[in-house]
Amino acid sequence: MQLAGRLDQLGTETAFAVSQAAAEWAAGGHRVYPFHLGDINLPTPANIVDAMNAAIADGKTGYCPAAGIAPLRDALADDIGRGRGMELSASNIVVQPGGKPVITKFIQTLMNPGDGVLYPNPGYPIYESQIDYYGGRAMPYRYRETDTGFGIDLEQLRELAPSARLLIYNNLQNPLGCESTPEEMAEIARIAIEHDLTVLSDEAYFEMRYSGESTSIASLPGMADRTVILYTFSKKFAMTGWRLGCAVAPVDVAQQIAKLNTNDESCTTHFVQAAGVEALRDPSGAVPLLAELERRRNAAVAGLQAIPGVSCATPESTFYLFPNVTEAVGRLGFRNVTEFATAALHETGVSFCTRHHFGSAQPDETERYIRLAYSGISVDDIEEGLGELAGWVASA
Ligand SMILES: Cc1ncc(COP(=O)(O)O)c(C=O)c1O
Repeated sequence: MQLAGRLDQLGTETAFAVSQAAAEWAAGGHRVYPFHLGDINLPTPANIVDAMNAAIADGKTGYCPAAGIAPLRDALADDIGRGRGMELSASNIVVQPGGKPVITKFIQTLMNPGDGVLYPNPGYPIYESQIDYYGGRAMPYRYRETDTGFGIDLEQLRELAPSARLLIYNNLQNPLGCESTPEEMAEIARIAIEHDLTVLSDEAYFEMRYSGESTSIASLPGMADRTVILYTFSKKFAMTGWRLGCAVAPVDVAQQIAKLNTNDESCTTHFVQAAGVEALRDPSGAVPLLAELERRRNAAVAGLQAIPGVSCATPESTFYLFPNVTEAVGRLGFRNVTEFATAALHETGVSFCTRHHFGSAQPDETERYIRLAYSGISVDDIEEGLGELAGWVASA
């Protein structure tokens, strides 16, 4: 069968290849410490599960409106508006099967072939895949390591912005675990307004934080009319496999996204939406979840900081760490971080992604980084696994 030529442009999440390698190693009878995938090994809160079961028993098993059921759109407008200090109504909300579809629908709705799209690198790999697939001009912007984590290279962003039309911004960032200072976010908004950029604000981790408060760039003056927010239940309520999220957009854009819903999936599963209403009505189940993730973060940061030649900041949000391993890689005599990751799996069972799973390294990049997710591994296993890693590096 002859495949469509455009498939050559479609990327993927190369991190899944790391899962495959880890699964094969485990199948050989070896112990694996899984730090590679951003899934959560904690159960969805019981009230949400119960609400889904009740909705099925109640016959909510048929088609429903493409943009989402009214009670969920109302609840989302209320919750997202309150959390971000924005005036929203149901007409701004288009329910989606997860957060990820918002990326493709943003691009399909707002990008013409040839348009320049700025996106983070290192960043979530689906941005580049979708930009390329729909014929956009991929324009990665980089981050710089700071004393407290990572910050956007604003100088580079300013240089690139005049030839871009869209900007993808992921504050509370995967894979870096970092967030913008208020000054950085204000400058990004200023650049977006000056160059008339349409913005996707990927807020998948907005509520995943251990201290402080999140801010949405959409809430800054002049931004609401040019921004689409990606919102998801996946992380906040440990609902990654349920597939529930939404796009938050100006009404005219929301209507177009709803039309794409009609074409793509007709609607998001009705009983899953009913469960979403309950999640927002009583979100208390998210509290112990976050507390457990914080314990894991503390254990993982402490474990990494104890490894010779590894430095790691303490992010206040997401469940990702992006330690600098340049010295450790050198100490062990590896030529690159991929060799380091492969050997780490085989020598210690610790499985993680590297910087290269989140976009191509920029030509002047000299430091080496890995990414660890602590959402799918217990505190005991974090301590044991990183202890193994420390022993291996120290023995070199
Ligand atoms: C930055 C970012 N955006 C979007 C998503 C997609 O989220 P969902 O599982 O709700 O589709 C993820 C998932 O890991 C993510 O890390």
